[in-house]
Amino acid sequence: MSQGSSWGRALSLSRPAAIKQILSWLRELWRKGAAILPKGLYARSALIVIAPMVILQGVLTYVFMERHWQLVTTRLSTVLTQDIAALIDLYGADPQPGSAAALSRIAQDRLKIDADFLPKSALPPALPKPFFSIVDAALSNEIRRQIGRPFWLDTVGRSNLIEIRIQLDDATLRVVANRSAAYASNSHIFLLWMVGASFVLIIVAIAFLRNQIKPILLLAGAAEAFGKGRDPDFRPRGAREVRQAGNAFIEMKRRIERAFEQRTAMLNGVSHDLRTILTRFKLSLALMGESDETQDLQKDVEEMQRMLEAYLAFARGDAGESASQVDMHDFLEDLRLDAERNGHDAKIEFTGDPIVAVRPDAFKRCLANLIGNAQSHAKHIAIEASRDQRFLTIHVDDDGPGIPPSAREDVFRPFFRLDESRNQDLGGTGLGLAIALDIARSHGGDIGLTDSPLGGLRATVRVPV
Ligand SMILES: Nc1ncnc2c1ncn2[C@@H]1O[C@H](COP(=O)(O)OP(=O)(O)O)[C@@H](O)[C@H]1O
Ligand SMILES: [Mg+2]
Repeated sequence: MSQGSSWGRALSLSRPAAIKQILSWLRELWRKGAAILPKGLYARSALIVIAPMVILQGVLTYVFMERHWQLVTTRLSTVLTQDIAALIDLYGADPQPGSAAALSRIAQDRLKIDADFLPKSALPPALPKPFFSIVDAALSNEIRRQIGRPFWLDTVGRSNLIEIRIQLDDATLRVVANRSAAYASNSHIFLLWMVGASFVLIIVAIAFLRNQIKPILLLAGAAEAFGKGRDPDFRPRGAREVRQAGNAFIEMKRRIERAFEQRTAMLNGVSHDLRTILTRFKLSLALMGESDETQDLQKDVEEMQRMLEAYLAFARGDAGESASQVDMHDFLEDLRLDAERNGHDAKIEFTGDPIVAVRPDAFKRCLANLIGNAQSHAKHIAIEASRDQRFLTIHVDDDGPGIPPSAREDVFRPFFRLDESRNQDLGGTGLGLAIALDIARSHGGDIGLTDSPLGGLRATVRVPV
């Protein structure tokens, strides 16, 4: 709909409806404006400083032009016209050739204008009015008011001079005066000062802004690095509020690290104590000699131990390991060989530069968990990896039963298992995917589950490189 007709509609609406309509236009305008405005903090604060300065300048310049410049020019024009009017009056009182010459001389000596009384002739055709000239308008006004005779004006022709011709009863008076006699001509210096000064101010403002914004960027960088599992070297700097935010971040980071340590320590303790008991258990069983009962017990004890190892792995996380350059191709090849040794059919495909920085043990555990899951649920496994400028992406595909979309979030929760509800016991603990996700996140990445082209589940690990 065109703007015109919607205006018309708004005008014909009742008052509250019209107000609502106008408000919605304003909101629209605000949204569009916000979309154009810069997004970065630096650009925004620069705008906040610069915009008022430019507006202030504009207003000042306008007021100066409008009031001061115009006023001075009008005064100067008045004075020049007064001089000319006096010459005309004197000439009128004694219109002799001799007095004309005397008047010209006085005008030259005392009034600093060239005045010649020429034989009467028609005035040249009027020049086109210059587009922006206060002096033309001011002089015309004054001559019309004070002298009231036909005149001709050239304020443009020769830049430094203005020429005025006035038709008298029996002669034509030609006056050539300096432009500065009628015109406040040095005002461009004012403009120059203004533009120059604000230029300096803007540069100073930008330099200071840069210093104010740097600590905020550092804080953002530190938070991002911490999120990706790196340990940022960060010290709060800058303005009080920014330092406050920085200290709060450090405090939060410490609390998270402490919680992590506590979790690890507790689970380690529990696992260690139970392991000791389990070892004693196994020893006693071995001493009891073979029987059906002891065999069952032994199996239970072994399962318990396997679960304990899984808990331990979860508890340990990948703490302490540092990243190193790894050849991803060899890395995946090892995992594929493991899968083949377990009697599975596995394929790998790799594109891009294979050298990637990861924490090798942790990353291997992450992939091994995904491939292990595929092994327990499917026969065929395909691993497809690619690396581009920003990400290393690894798809683990299988042709098993897959995971229904509604459960794809839950399976990442520790101890959550679908196998129980599927009534199959593959001896899992429900920790595999939780551990894998932990590791991917600590590399700054993520794991997603989708349908595989093979028919089963596709698990996708994506980490930034
Ligand atoms: N490739 C897969 N195909 C089908 N189901 C899977 C697959 N991977 C995982 N799951 C389901 O997700 C659940 C959670 O997996 P996981 O965290 O590795 O625990 P666990 O393997 O110890 O049971 C499993 O119980 C399993 O039912
Ligand atoms: Mg598993």
